[in-house]
Amino acid sequence: MNRILNFGSLNIDYVYDVPAFVKKGETVSSYKRSTFTGGKGLNQTVAMLRAGLKVWHAGMIGEEGVFLKEYLDNEGADTSLIKTISESTGHAVIQRDIDGDNCILLYGGANRQITKEYVDTVLAGFDDGDFIVLQNEISELKYIIDRASEKGMKVILNPSPINEEIFKLSLLKVDIFFVNEIEGAALAGCSEGEDASIMTGKILDKFPDSLTVLTLGEKGAVCRDKDGYTAVEAEKVKAVDTTAAGDTFTGYFLAGLVLGMSNKECMELATEASAITVTRPGAAPSIPYINEITG
Ligand code: RIB
Repeated sequence: MNRILNFGSLNIDYVYDVPAFVKKGETVSSYKRSTFTGGKGLNQTVAMLRAGLKVWHAGMIGEEGVFLKEYLDNEGADTSLIKTISESTGHAVIQRDIDGDNCILLYGGANRQITKEYVDTVLAGFDDGDFIVLQNEISELKYIIDRASEKGMKVILNPSPINEEIFKLSLLKVDIFFVNEIEGAALAGCSEGEDASIMTGKILDKFPDSLTVLTLGEKGAVCRDKDGYTAVEAEKVKAVDTTAAGDTFTGYFLAGLVLGMSNKECMELATEASAITVTRPGAAPSIPYINEITG
């Protein structure tokens, strides 16, 4: 079976419960602070593991982030490639409001210390047909995509958080994009409110060999590749914290794909998993195990 490498961020999430997000020039007192294991990379690895896959995770942490590696160890990941360096661990300052919505301020820290030498060391253990999962929270993304693609690995990119750096990457080498409306609009070159079918069609025009999975929050999710377009509705649940919902969707969709499901089945599995995630607080701890998915 092909292996799955997540070359991704590992963050300490500091979550502040607030009545409403802080605005420019304003000071707001939070009711409570909680600390969680997080980072888009770590969350996606946890989702794939809890969905039943074997996953290798590569990335960098500082000394105070060793508990993130231990968390992945306990979940069953292969963490032998994670490197501890003398830099602060990446962290996120997350405001969470009473509707469970969030806004996130990131500090890259060790996630942004990835070097070409480290990339070569990590990729040496992977081959043609293996999967590599990436987000936009680590350094040397262009080099990673170029080297992984040369090896014949299947490149999966969640271009989040989206910024101008994404457009410097060799995006034609990406096999699967996981995007929300903001990221999808940026890739498509259209407005965020564009119809999902048109938006994904524009992405396919630019990247004809790719599959794009577009999550739309309460409006569900769609995916499109050259073989067709699939849409699924969201499940109606009471959200307490939307953090990691997209990461859960990504991890569970990929698990379905690796396990041989159709795109529609992958979308249904991922929809159910992420609906559970939003009913629980925090990032990685909120991600469900496969036995919680009822189908
Ligand atoms: O997608 C959610 C994640 O984004 C959080 O865990 C935070 O660390 C940021 O990376």
